[in-house]
Amino acid sequence: MNNLIDGRAIAEQLHQETAARVAALKARGVQPGLVFVRVGEDPASRVYVGMKARMSERLGIRSVTHVLPESTTEAELLALLERLNGDAEVHGILVQAPLPKHIRHQVIYAAVAPHKDVDGFHPVNVGKLMLGDTTGFRPCTPAGIQELLIRSHIPTDGAEVVILGRGEIVGKPMAAILCQKAPHANGTVTLCHSRTRDIASHCRRADILIAAMGVPLFVKADMVKPGAVVIDVGVNRIPDPAAKDGTRLVGDVDFAAVQPVAGRITPNPGGVGPMTIAVLMQNTVRAAEMAAGLK
Ligand code: GUN
Repeated sequence: MNNLIDGRAIAEQLHQETAARVAALKARGVQPGLVFVRVGEDPASRVYVGMKARMSERLGIRSVTHVLPESTTEAELLALLERLNGDAEVHGILVQAPLPKHIRHQVIYAAVAPHKDVDGFHPVNVGKLMLGDTTGFRPCTPAGIQELLIRSHIPTDGAEVVILGRGEIVGKPMAAILCQKAPHANGTVTLCHSRTRDIASHCRRADILIAAMGVPLFVKADMVKPGAVVIDVGVNRIPDPAAKDGTRLVGDVDFAAVQPVAGRITPNPGGVGPMTIAVLMQNTVRAAEMAAGLK
C-alpha cells in the first residue's frame, strides 16, 4: 500500500531550489554562511548538527560548527553570539537545543539577531509568526510540515487539524502556522497536550493529525479516522533487545498499525526529518539574500 508522504523526495525538490538560489548569490559574490553552536555532547544533537552541516556543504553554504563544553556559562555563550551577530559573513546562526540546564534557553534565543535567527526562535520571529507577518523566519520543523502538505496536495482549508504536543519547537508554532488566515492554512486547529482530557476522541476527529509530543508509539489505529492524514514528528529511542546497541528509534505513531487506516502517512525516518533540514537551508539562503538587499 503506497500511501506514504515521501519527505526525502520533497526535501530534495527544495534542495534543488535552494542550490539554484545559492548559485545566484555566488554570482553576485555572496557566499551564504551558517554557524552552528552546540553546547555539550548530547548524542542526538551531535548527529543532527552533523547532518545539517553536511547538507550545508552540499548546497554550497559555508558552515562553521562551534562545539562548546558542557561547563560553558551563559555569559560565554552570549559573548560568542554577540561576535557572530556582528560578523557580516555569518547569515544564519543556529544554537542546537537542548542546552545544558544551567543555561536559560530563552535568554540565548533572544540574543541571536532576529535577521540571523534561521531557527525562528527569537521573540520577534515568534511574534511575527503569530501576527501572520511573513517577513520573519519560521521554525524549521513546522514550516517543513506545511510544505510537505502543500507539495503532497493535501488541503488544509477548513480541515480539522489536531496537533499532539505544545512544545515551542513544533506544537505551538505548528498551531500558529495552520490556523493563519492565509493560503495553505485556514485549519481548525486543536492543540492537545499532557492535560488534555480524552486525547483519543480529539484524534478521531482529525482530518490531519500531527504527532509531536515525544511519546513512543502513542498514536494507535483506533485513534485515527479512516482516510486521515497522519504526520509523525516523534524521534524516540526505546529499548530493543534484538538490536545491535539494544535500542531502536520509533516515532510517536505506531506506524505498522496506523498505515492501513490512514489516507496518507509520513514514514519515520524519511518523513518530517528531511524537511526540517530543507527549511533550515531555505531560511539560511533567505537570510543571505536579505543581507545582500535582494529580498
Ligand atoms: N532541537 C530539536 N529540534 C531543533 C531545531 O529545530 N533547532 C534547534 N536549534 N534545536 C533543535
